[in-house]
Amino acid sequence: MDQVTTSAEAIEDVAITVTVNGTRYKRFVEPRLLLIHFLREDLNLTGPHIGCDTSHCGACTIEMDGMSVKACTLFAVQADGASITTIEGMANADGTLSALQEGFRQMHGLQCGFCTPGMIMRAHVLLKENPNPTEEEIRFGIAGNLCRCTGYQNIVKAIQYAAAKLSGQDFQEAAE
Ligand code: FES
Ligand code: FES
Repeated sequence: MDQVTTSAEAIEDVAITVTVNGTRYKRFVEPRLLLIHFLREDLNLTGPHIGCDTSHCGACTIEMDGMSVKACTLFAVQADGASITTIEGMANADGTLSALQEGFRQMHGLQCGFCTPGMIMRAHVLLKENPNPTEEEIRFGIAGNLCRCTGYQNIVKAIQYAAAKLSGQDFQEAAE
């Protein structure tokens, strides 16, 4: 007689080790668990948001091993061994706001704030790859992140502010 396997028996948890915001976590997770749910529900890091089911909005963006990644597009098991930064890890070591966080505040780069954690994480990687981007490069660089409040003008200014600050300059707004 065939042996019947229940779904509970078929899905075994998998051990993963992930470093998030400098802390090393070892957890057992279901293979089907998405990384965004692991961060939000297992680690209680609710800064990365869930804004869609289609990998379009970018609200879930994190930094993983130096790349900006939409955490809803990966399984948690795929992050085994990875080093991750979320918005919760973006402040300076002394607790002050990072240049990007300050830029979003100073330039009014957020309205409802829902897209902001993902925007900042995407911009964080963008500025590491290109510390002095043009406005066009910034707009292209954040094209995978949607703002439902459509505050793109000030989001671009916030990133320009951070780029200037990180290179030791004052941000000068372009004349309208
Ligand atoms: Fe990940 Fe929208 S929740 S792209
Ligand atoms: Fe509201 Fe971007 S500030 S979605």
